[in-house]
Amino acid sequence: MVDPQALAAVRRALEEAQRVAVLTGAGMSAESGIPTFRDALTGLWSRFDPEDLASEQGFRADPARVWDWYAQRRDGVRRARPNAGHEALAAWGRARPGRLCVVTQNVDDLHQRAGQPEVVRLHGDILADRWLDGAACRERPRCDAASAAAGRPPRCAQCGNLVRPAVVWFGEMLPAAALQRAQEAAAECQVLLVVGTSGAVWPAAGLASLARRSGARVVIVNPHESEIDAEAHVVLRGTAATTLPALLG
Ligand code: OAD
Repeated sequence: MVDPQALAAVRRALEEAQRVAVLTGAGMSAESGIPTFRDALTGLWSRFDPEDLASEQGFRADPARVWDWYAQRRDGVRRARPNAGHEALAAWGRARPGRLCVVTQNVDDLHQRAGQPEVVRLHGDILADRWLDGAACRERPRCDAASAAAGRPPRCAQCGNLVRPAVVWFGEMLPAAALQRAQEAAAECQVLLVVGTSGAVWPAAGLASLARRSGARVVIVNPHESEIDAEAHVVLRGTAATTLPALLG
């Protein structure tokens, strides 16, 4: 149960802020039916090994298995709908142009489908493809992921390069422009709202301490403890789809 006084104080802080940044994680989309990674029973990493399914090494070892796993997750994302939390954030942002920047670790497109004006995607886009060996195909202009030969995964008919999902895997760098924009948003905001992340994955987890050091109020929305609770001025123990409409509605 979220403390009503804490909720009211955060509502006021959000209204007064010229810039608000929001960092979302898998818990943001949990109530849309997309599984999280680290929740004990339902999290993907409690059932699957990320070394096998979310690393370049794992993909090279068994491309068909990894491709099929992502195909299933893509189906789940396409079937899912934005929840009341995505809707509340997007409506708040649309009503206050230029004040809200949403930074997400999520590879789904639910913020975008809810109509969120600015979304910075730190971990890529599960619905998009790219070449496994980017450099190899850049030198061959006719190689084009959209026209790759069908297969699991599809591959370039000329050079054999494989198509992979355009997500960030373990051991890979985050897209530099997205990380820079996220760090700017965290450093410039007066309030950082951190929704539904375990805070276990860096550099995204570091945005909370960056915002706090830069003078922002840090507010966490999460029904459970997270690794970055100590960075927060306020922790609201509720879910995204119930707490965000109460905060922003
Ligand atoms: P995690 O699975 O690590 O954490 C999910 C968090 O959401 C937990 O803290 C839960 O308590 C919380 N949670 C669960 N249900 C919720 C709800 N309904 N409302 C609000 N919070 C809820 O997910 P992330 O922190 O996003 O990387 O994981 C970070 C990264 O690790 C992911 O982006 C992914 C993964 O490996 C990539 O895809 C590159």
